[in-house]
Amino acid sequence: MPPFSNIQACVFDAYGTLFDIHAPAASIAEELGDAARPLSDLWRRKQLEYTWLRSLMGAHADFWQLTGDGLDYALEVHGIGDADIRERLMNLYENLEAYPDAGDTLTRLKEAGYTTAILSNGAPSMLSSAIRHSGLAALIDHPISIEDAGIYKPSPRVYQLAVERTGARPEEICFVSANAWDVAGSASFGFQVAHLNRFGQPPERLPGKPKAVIASLSELPALIG
Ligand code: 2OP
Repeated sequence: MPPFSNIQACVFDAYGTLFDIHAPAASIAEELGDAARPLSDLWRRKQLEYTWLRSLMGAHADFWQLTGDGLDYALEVHGIGDADIRERLMNLYENLEAYPDAGDTLTRLKEAGYTTAILSNGAPSMLSSAIRHSGLAALIDHPISIEDAGIYKPSPRVYQLAVERTGARPEEICFVSANAWDVAGSASFGFQVAHLNRFGQPPERLPGKPKAVIASLSELPALIG
């Protein structure tokens, strides 16, 4: 039996899963030097930390602001004060490339008749810009932003959005994320989850386990029965 059965919709996390979040710093690595990847890693960590902390504080701000706030923190830690670098990194983040395995996998899933969706922390304008720039627009039936819930992942109110927008029950949704904490939150909510382990993350010590761990999105269609 394939790991994923009775699936009606395939729902994807966006940043780190479909879109390459480390491409902005890598594309100006000659200017950033050895700081490029550590800066990108700290930028991502602070961006996510701010989503969790603001959700707990009840002080919501959208993902575009938290992406800028996280970048400002990381630039300060690395002693980079050039406003032009900040602007270029933010512009690159607004127009992220898709990972090479994203388009072909989404095409195969659409051809197999599955409903497709993105469920992301990203603000609506961020998601539409990335979806358009990456060429995935025709392959995504429902781009869903957590802004409709007013709180960030892994709140169950966020995963419930995918149920409402796709019309599928939780157990009929195959959710895919490269973020192990998002894997835990979505599995705990009731989705059938694939951990796309792009970053070699060990399993989180949290409730909610994936049904499969994959190294590439291209493995997914064969796992859905
Ligand atoms: C997303 O929601 C978790 O940042 C990731 O797209």
